[in-house]
Amino acid sequence: MATFAVTGSASGMGAASAAALSAAGHTVIGVDLRAADILADLGTAEGRDLAAEEILARCGGRLDGVAAIAGVGPDLPDAAAVVSINHFGPVRLLERLLPALAASGAGRAVVIGSNSASTVPLIDDGLVELALAGEEQAARERARAAAEAMPAEVRAMAPSISAYASSKFALARWVRRTAVTPEWARQGVLLNAIAPGAVLTPLMLGSTGDAADHDPDAFPTPMPLGVFGRPEDIAFWVQQFLRPEARFTTGAVLYVDGGTDAAMRPDAQPTAMTP
Ligand code: NAI
Repeated sequence: MATFAVTGSASGMGAASAAALSAAGHTVIGVDLRAADILADLGTAEGRDLAAEEILARCGGRLDGVAAIAGVGPDLPDAAAVVSINHFGPVRLLERLLPALAASGAGRAVVIGSNSASTVPLIDDGLVELALAGEEQAARERARAAAEAMPAEVRAMAPSISAYASSKFALARWVRRTAVTPEWARQGVLLNAIAPGAVLTPLMLGSTGDAADHDPDAFPTPMPLGVFGRPEDIAFWVQQFLRPEARFTTGAVLYVDGGTDAAMRPDAQPTAMTP
């Protein structure tokens, strides 16, 4: 049986993933702000250090997989915190855990992005660049300033919507860039992302309130399947990406969103290579 670390294990998709992995007989090390094996704030450097050290101690330096699921929604008023938690949380933690994943011989990492990276027209390219350059402090300052400059009506609804979508955009791009580097790929550590759409969790209900109450056809983005997702729908794919048999997939961004992205941007994939 394998040993996996799951962040965000106290709620929503993280809780569903941890439960499914445990039910399959694996050892799960849960990380969250509360109700977890390891209590750590992944929005801070100290919290990430603490989480990494505790995970490494518990797994003995050999980890079969990490599901980096913890995150916050666009309703969080502090846009800087959204960047730190949703982008730098998974990135820095995975960087720290890479040696333990490599030691497993078939290490697997999966992060949770969001289809908002490609369905919300508020991507801040400058913020994405700073995130990908690893400039956390500058990225935080930019996100905060951009949020303050947004129209009052947008701020009232989703104060961190641009920071949220941009952080998830940068996270998906980090996955694609990082997965194929020799440090990951040639150590047999596979790195993939899931981009969920509207999934009924406390996070989604906090962002959409009554909008999700509960007619998918009244949702602001198209829901072709006519249903919202459940945490288990994401946990299913988390489990698949963590399996040792998933040996030929890396750098993927899998949309698990009931068809929203395909409906909004049917021709965005594939894009042809330009000479
Ligand atoms: P949730 O709110 O049910 O669970 C998130 C968990 O992350 C909570 O247990 C929370 O305590 C933990 N967390 C938050 N900040 C943390 C921090 N600083 N340090 C450690 N743990 C922290 O939300 P849900 O929906 O299960 O979210 C999981 C992931 O899915 C998030 O990254 C979210 O951005 C993403 N997502 C959610 C969507 C949805 O519709 N629910 C859609 C697209 C992406």
